[in-house]
Amino acid sequence: MLDGKNILLGITGGIAAYKSIFLTRELAKLGADVKVIITPDAEQFVTPVTLATLSGNPVLSSFVPEGAGGLWNNHVELGKWADLMVIAPLTANTLSKLASGQSNNLLVATYLSATCPVMVAPAMDLDMYAHPTTHENLDKLRHHGVEVLEAAEGSLASGLSGKGRMQEPEEIIEAIRHHLAPTEQLKDKRVLITAGPTHEPLDPVRFIGNRSSGKMGFAIAKQALRLGAEVTLVAGPVNAELDHPRLNRMDVKTAEEMMAAVAHCYGEQDILVFAAAVADYRPKDVSNQKIKKTPGDAPVIELVQNPDILKFVGQHKKPDQFLVGFALETDQEVQNARKKLDNKNLDMIVLNSLNDAGAGFEFDTNKVTFITSKDVVEIPLKSKDEVAVDIFRQILKLHAES
Ligand code: PMT
Repeated sequence: MLDGKNILLGITGGIAAYKSIFLTRELAKLGADVKVIITPDAEQFVTPVTLATLSGNPVLSSFVPEGAGGLWNNHVELGKWADLMVIAPLTANTLSKLASGQSNNLLVATYLSATCPVMVAPAMDLDMYAHPTTHENLDKLRHHGVEVLEAAEGSLASGLSGKGRMQEPEEIIEAIRHHLAPTEQLKDKRVLITAGPTHEPLDPVRFIGNRSSGKMGFAIAKQALRLGAEVTLVAGPVNAELDHPRLNRMDVKTAEEMMAAVAHCYGEQDILVFAAAVADYRPKDVSNQKIKKTPGDAPVIELVQNPDILKFVGQHKKPDQFLVGFALETDQEVQNARKKLDNKNLDMIVLNSLNDAGAGFEFDTNKVTFITSKDVVEIPLKSKDEVAVDIFRQILKLHAES
């Protein structure tokens, strides 16, 4: 139910606007207070009379409506009033305006000043949707925290068939409900997350490490906090900041330190998500002094295996604990991830491949596949914040089914 929720629905000029009539009606039926803003082009596809009747509110289309005696629609107030702004459909034209910060109509000006969360459902022809500019613009929005509901495949107004259809109103409503759901789904639950790389020292100035930034793990921690959990975040050396009264952050450098931190608290956790990129090996000997360069000589560094932290937890897992690992693969991705799922006794593994553009280390985005013993669910490229939302959506779904 959306009782008491204020939703600002932006409609732009594309054929999918007809579906937003249904969206307006359903949102109002679910108890939301819906205010609709349409762009001038959208009026060619849907009428303000229909939308005003279904939403129960006047439809807003210009800064200073005719006949309003000079009274203007305050776009800043609209953005403050809303619990969520949804733009559906979002055309390529309005997308480029949002991405470049234009404010030449009421809808884009409201977006630019909105302090509420924003969700968009793009809709356009397949070649427009596939164009690199569209991808860049959507990535820009994601980077600014906008939730993008990826277009679906199917028949398009041009007569062609492909990716570009706006998601169905039912799917948009589901995403809205999830977004506005009470944030208490993990209340009283304890969640442990590992994040970032480990650094395995060679001497006081050098180490073996990897390019993990911690962004994925920190996004997961933020989402767990948002859902009301008590969160323990074991973080390798990263620059990421996170502060919250329900957060217990343990900073570590090496795999052995990460192992010790996890071993200390894994037993009391309900959900454990291992997003850290732990070094599998460390130098056998660590020099106390900086290793000097000897002309003509290349030192051989002997490595020893680090503990497999996730495997250890999988071996000691209690029946009511839900254990999620990550797999970062470069080849035979699903097959390798499945092996890890089994070998490490996991409930789910989140596969990301270095072959996918925008996925893996350092990016603000990721493209993942959720793998369980029963299912393989591919998720399109999304911001790491959105991936974190999907991870808990998936965990809660699997938990409810078990
Ligand atoms: O930090 P970012 O820049 O945002 O990048 C995110 C990420 C790419 C690091 C993340 O999405 C990711 O894939 N993390 C896991 C990377 C990895 O080490 O994958 P793996 O296939 O080598 O390890 C499998 C699982 O075992 C992982 O859950 C890992 O945390 C865990 N592991 C691995 C080795 C080890 N010694 N101990 C472990 O716990």
